[in-house]
Amino acid sequence: MTDDLAVATARLTKRFGSQTAVDAIDLAVPRGAVYGFLGPNGSGKTTTIRMLLGLVTPDSGDRRLLGGSMPGAAGEVLPRVGALIEGPAFHPYLSGRANLARVDAADRTAPPRSASSRIDAALDRVGLLNAAGKRFRAYSLGMRQRLAIAAALLMPRELLVLDEPTNGLDPQGTREVRHLVAGLAAEGSTVLVSSHLLSEVDQMCTHVGVMHVGKLVAQGSVDELRGGGAARVRVRTSRPGPAAEVLAELGLEAVRTERDGVTADLLGVDAEKVVPALVHAGVPVLGFAVETPSLEDFYVSLTGEGFDVSG
Ligand SMILES: Nc1ncnc2c1ncn2[C@@H]1O[C@H](COP(=O)(O)OP(=O)(O)OP(=O)(O)O)[C@@H](O)[C@H]1O
Ligand SMILES: [Mg+2]
Repeated sequence: MTDDLAVATARLTKRFGSQTAVDAIDLAVPRGAVYGFLGPNGSGKTTTIRMLLGLVTPDSGDRRLLGGSMPGAAGEVLPRVGALIEGPAFHPYLSGRANLARVDAADRTAPPRSASSRIDAALDRVGLLNAAGKRFRAYSLGMRQRLAIAAALLMPRELLVLDEPTNGLDPQGTREVRHLVAGLAAEGSTVLVSSHLLSEVDQMCTHVGVMHVGKLVAQGSVDELRGGGAARVRVRTSRPGPAAEVLAELGLEAVRTERDGVTADLLGVDAEKVVPALVHAGVPVLGFAVETPSLEDFYVSLTGEGFDVSG
């Protein structure tokens, strides 16, 4: 495990009774990455994050945060980490602003003199400035979630660990979280963000790790996981048969004819050559598209479409 990784684990494992909730995972989050930690409900994301932050003791394996081995390095490392984790404890009868003041006051690294400007900046960042005076117990689920994010943003952090930050947020709020994460990354923070919906994190991640029933079943940069060369062309034509022959001659593979056209894997073939070749062979082209498999397709292929929670 090297220190150019902001988060690194080696065969990290956690069992609850007979269930292995996290099964020997090797997480590698490069510094500067926005790492989407994906997996269906119950796949072990929160348990992993709790172990990273020293809130849960693993049964076996190692974990390093910002180069420090946990839990030994907790005192040195955790002040450089901002975290949003399920069920943050806020005081129901205090306002959002007063709750943040409590969180801020508990942080020994936060200079008290600048507390109020720091708190207002965090409230502003999550769009809660106007609701800052309202009692926490009157907050909606989305407002609570925003306050929890604000608490993680009070101080600049080298690493932010956000467990399902879009939980309970409306589409607008989800989009704002995406902007927020992009902004944090641009400021130089590494971000580890969990979600069960790839579509929520797709656009903002540089790296992705996919959990499935306690195992890390895929990990890598978004480009790697998208599989670069797997683009498919789709040709719409009234003569699928001859079109398929032309594509095969050009060197495309997995050529499939359909009622109104043909699809094929482009592989190394230059997409610009396809239509001229078809036209040259007298095949009428009614439509042409190059489709790159979405990360969503890949994710679903790993974790399945099933609705039932495993375990
Ligand atoms: N304290 C606990 N005691 C017993 N089982 C637990 C405990 N915490 C988690 N589990 C189990 O471990 C598995 C993984 O749970 P975890 O909360 O890590 O999943 P998750 O990926 O965060 O799911 P979600 O997307 O729903 O938040 C689940 O089967 C869960 O029931
Ligand atoms: Mg969870």
